[in-house]
Amino acid sequence: MSNHTDSLAKKDIAYNLHPYTNLAAHEDRGPLIITRGEGIYVWDSDGNRYIEGLAGLWCVSLGSSEPRLVEAATRQLQNLPFSHTFAHRSTEPVIALAEKLIGMAPEPMAKVYFVNSGSEAVDTAMKLVWYYNNAFERPHKKKIIARKRGYHGVTIAAASLTGLPYLHNDFDLPIERVYHTDTPCYYRYAEPNESEEQFTNRLAESLEQLILSEGPDTIAAFIAEPVMGAGGVMTPPNGYFEKVQVILKRHDILMIADEVICGFGRTGNMWGSQTYGITPDMVTCAKQLSSAYLPIGAVMVSAPIYQAFVEQSRKLGVFGTGNTYGGHPVAAAVALETLKIYEERDILGHVRDVAPRFQARLKALSEHPLVGDARGVGLIGGIEIVANKSTKQSFPPETKAAAAVETNALKHGLIVRPLPSDSVGICPPLVITEAEIDDLFDRLSRALDDAMGILKAA
Ligand SMILES: Cc1ncc(COP(=O)(O)O)c(C=O)c1O
Repeated sequence: MSNHTDSLAKKDIAYNLHPYTNLAAHEDRGPLIITRGEGIYVWDSDGNRYIEGLAGLWCVSLGSSEPRLVEAATRQLQNLPFSHTFAHRSTEPVIALAEKLIGMAPEPMAKVYFVNSGSEAVDTAMKLVWYYNNAFERPHKKKIIARKRGYHGVTIAAASLTGLPYLHNDFDLPIERVYHTDTPCYYRYAEPNESEEQFTNRLAESLEQLILSEGPDTIAAFIAEPVMGAGGVMTPPNGYFEKVQVILKRHDILMIADEVICGFGRTGNMWGSQTYGITPDMVTCAKQLSSAYLPIGAVMVSAPIYQAFVEQSRKLGVFGTGNTYGGHPVAAAVALETLKIYEERDILGHVRDVAPRFQARLKALSEHPLVGDARGVGLIGGIEIVANKSTKQSFPPETKAAAAVETNALKHGLIVRPLPSDSVGICPPLVITEAEIDDLFDRLSRALDDAMGILKAA
């Protein structure tokens, strides 16, 4: 470690409170300090190069050196660094971005509301669902159903909807009105000898049971990621969303598609909703909306929902919500340029071209003795590390098997992310080439071999 890195690390340990980090371990281990990025690569403060196998946090779709995004930000900063959209005000980039997003939505949407992150988008969606039902004088139709192991963010509402205990423990979450139904992961949750279709039917029945036992007139919305990302990269079983949506329609329950990871090409279509036949009433998005160059998120709402808001604000005098930086003009200008680049360079076509290679290399990992399951779609994938492939038994939690893969991947110049239940997430920038995909999986295979030596010896 260089003196420069050592000095930075000491200051980081001294002053920086790290999210999603074991704070006690951080005091010993310190940070990995990333200083530079180019294409799919990043470099640390000691000059080591890594493939950014998670595109930052599932977000740097265009890689780390896109000059057009820097230029778009610079132009906007020089022209108008800030103005807002409260109280009838607007700005050019926000108007253009709103028009663009509405034009590309997975289902006809009427309006888009801008925020700064995925969590804020989800949080806002929850508020909007409540507002909508108040407009129809349905004060009891307020509960929201999410899924166990779903991930929706960290604000109080978004963390409540997230179905992962470590977001709730000792934070006094989840809040009331939030329910979690089954995780649609066939590999991990199917019963012995249960077919995929039977599994899907069982989950659909269980969802309907929950709705009936709570009372359909108390359930306002269902929120789902098309592919569950941070909970362990889980693709839904065949027919899952089709069956779920029949139930939602039957009980007049809104469908919220949380497209924060899947949106903008990740699954091989512009939206995960298109990949899985989801017809949402609301869509939340962020991350790849700006290729993560600046923070921006959005909630899109359908025409009937918007109409309810209009009536409410006529009655109440104001649509009483807004974030200072929601629709920040610089972030909006960068997002607009990102969407232009997606179109001009046919990023979706590129994802479709290279995804078969990505998926083939991913699926091939299921031959590895540590890998119980390898699942994914488009350019997102996950592997589940198990101690015993035939019984699907996991390693004891204290072994931290997925973290062992991550640590060894770093030694081979690859960043991946350990996820709950010993899954490892792989989600590279969308601009990755076939040769780079091969390089990524070669490194991951070597990391798995190294991790196996350590885990089997433990
Ligand atoms: C599906 C989904 N929703 C919401 C969020 C929260 O987004 P943010 O971290 O920008 O608040 C995430 C973050 O990973 C996510 O994956």
